[in-house]
Amino acid sequence: MASLLPCTSTTTPRPLFPKPSHFIAEAKCTPRLRVSCQSQNNSQNVEGKVDRRNVLFGLGAGLSAANLVSTQAPASANPVQPPVLDKCGVATNLNTGEQLDINCCPPVTDRIIDYRLPPVFQMKVRPSAHRVSPEYIFKYNMAIDRMKRLPKDDPRSFMQQANIHCAYCNGAYDQPGQGNLDLQVHNSWLFFPFHRWYLYFYERILGKLIGDPTFALPFWNWDNPKGMTIPPMFVDPKAAIYDPKRNQANLPPAVIDLGSTGNTDPLQVVNADVFDFMGQPYREGTAVNPGPGSSERGSHTAVHVWVGDPREKSGENLGNFYSAGRDPLFYCHHGNVDRMWTLWQYFLPSNKVPEKRITDPDFLNAAFVFYDENAQLVRVTVKDCLDNLRMGYDYERIDLPWLDYRARIIRTSSTAPLASTLFPLKLEGVVRFQVPKTKKGKADELLVLENITVDATKFLKFDVFVNDEDDNASELDKAAYAGTYAQVPHKAEKKTGTSTIRLKLTDLYDDMDIGDDDTIVVTLVPRHQGPGVTIGGIKIIEAPPKAAAAAAAPSS
Ligand code: C2O
Repeated sequence: MASLLPCTSTTTPRPLFPKPSHFIAEAKCTPRLRVSCQSQNNSQNVEGKVDRRNVLFGLGAGLSAANLVSTQAPASANPVQPPVLDKCGVATNLNTGEQLDINCCPPVTDRIIDYRLPPVFQMKVRPSAHRVSPEYIFKYNMAIDRMKRLPKDDPRSFMQQANIHCAYCNGAYDQPGQGNLDLQVHNSWLFFPFHRWYLYFYERILGKLIGDPTFALPFWNWDNPKGMTIPPMFVDPKAAIYDPKRNQANLPPAVIDLGSTGNTDPLQVVNADVFDFMGQPYREGTAVNPGPGSSERGSHTAVHVWVGDPREKSGENLGNFYSAGRDPLFYCHHGNVDRMWTLWQYFLPSNKVPEKRITDPDFLNAAFVFYDENAQLVRVTVKDCLDNLRMGYDYERIDLPWLDYRARIIRTSSTAPLASTLFPLKLEGVVRFQVPKTKKGKADELLVLENITVDATKFLKFDVFVNDEDDNASELDKAAYAGTYAQVPHKAEKKTGTSTIRLKLTDLYDDMDIGDDDTIVVTLVPRHQGPGVTIGGIKIIEAPPKAAAAAAAPSS
C-alpha cells in the first residue's frame, strides 16, 4: 500500500513563492539522440534480428566528458522557483506563435505543502510497453478511462494533467519575481527533473484511481530493436490509451527514426549523444532555453515529431508541446526518456565520466508544483528526484544493445576548403570543410559551433559528421556522427535564437584512423530546414581537463 499512504508533508502557509506574471512562451525540445535505425529500409529490426549497429541510443559511448554542466562552477544566482498558479496566463502555440484558445492553467488553491517522498514499501517496476500482459493493458486502460471521467476541474483529470505540460512549456507562467521572463522547463538541466516529477504524480494518480498502489507506467523501449515501433497497445482504437491524432504513416510496423535522418547509423548517433547529456544551467533570471542536453534534443524530440500528426495544423498531439500530454503515448515515451537518465546516472561505464552528479545548489533546489494523487498541491524540488529508487520505482531490465557499440571510421585525405574561408555560413545544403585541430592526432577535443542563428518558430535540424569524404550525403555511415543541432519550434521573445553547441570529438578519434593529422573534415548535413540556419563560426578547442572540472563543482 505504499503509494496510498498519505504523503507525509508539512504544511506550509502559502507564500513560498514570489509572484510571477504570466504568459510566455517557449518550449522546445531538441533532439539529438538518435537511435535509430536503418530500419526504414531493412526490415528486420522489429523482430529482433537486428544488426546491432542499428540500435543504439544516445547514451552509449561518448560518455566522455559527460556533461559540462556538472563541472561548471556554480554561478551566484538562485534556483528557479515554481510558478504561482493564480498568475497563470495565456499559453502560446509554439509551432505557430499564436495564442492558444484553450486555457492551460490548473485550478488555483491556496494550500501548498512541501512534498516529502513517502517511504517505499514496494518498488513499482515500470514495464517495457512492448512486453506487457493483457492484464496490464486492461488495468492501464481502466486507469486512463477513469482519469478521463473525472470532473473537468479536478486537477487529476486527463485534460488537466495534459495541461500541466502546456502551462510549463508554452508560456503560461513567468518566473516568479522576474517580470515577464518566461518559465520554461525544456532546453536546460530542468528537463529531466521536471518530467520525472510529472510522471511520478501521473503514475500515482492512475494507481489511486484503480486502487493499485503498485501500478507503474509503461516505457516505450525505443532504444531496443524490439521496441522501435509504437507499442501495439496504443493503436487499438477502442482503447482508452488510443489517440487518433498521430502520423498514420508511422503506425506499426513503421520503425522509429530516432535520428530523424532515415538512414544514418543509429548506433553512431546514440553514441555521440552522451556528451553534454543534461543540458545547460538554468537559474532564476536565466532567459529561457539556455540549451538542451543531447538526449533531450536527440531522440526525445525525434519521437515527438515522428508521432505527431501531419494532418493537424501544428503536429498535434505529440508533435506540439501544448498538446503532447493529450496522447497517453507521451507518458510512455517520457518513461523511456526518464529511463535514459537513470541509465546514464547509474549504468553507463563511468571510466570516462568522472562526475555525473550535478551539485550546483541552483540545480538541486529548483522547484516545481504539482497536484498529487489526493489533489493536494505540492511543492517538489530537483534534489528529491535524483534517485528513482528512493521515489519508489524502477525499470524492467532490458538489454542495452547500444551500450558497447563502436563505429569504425576510415580516414581519407581531403581537399575540402578550410572552414575559415566559409564562415559565417548560411547553411543551404551539405557543406564539407576542414577544421584545424589543437594538437595532432588523438587529442582530447571539442568541436564548437558558435552563434547558430535560427528562426525559432521552425523545426530545424542539421547533423554534424567527421571525416566523411563521400559525396553522397545519404551515405554517411562511413563517417563519424558527431552530433545534431535541432530545435522544436517554440515561441521566443525574439524570433531568432542564437546558441552554441559543443560536440565531443575525443571518442570519435578512437574510431578513426586519425594518425597525426592536424585537421579534421567536418560535414554539415541539413535535415529539416526552415528559412535557414546561419552558423557564425566553427572551431576545435581542447576539452576542459576532467579532474579540474570535477573539482570545481562543490560536492554535497
Ligand atoms: Cu516536455 Cu517531451 O516534452
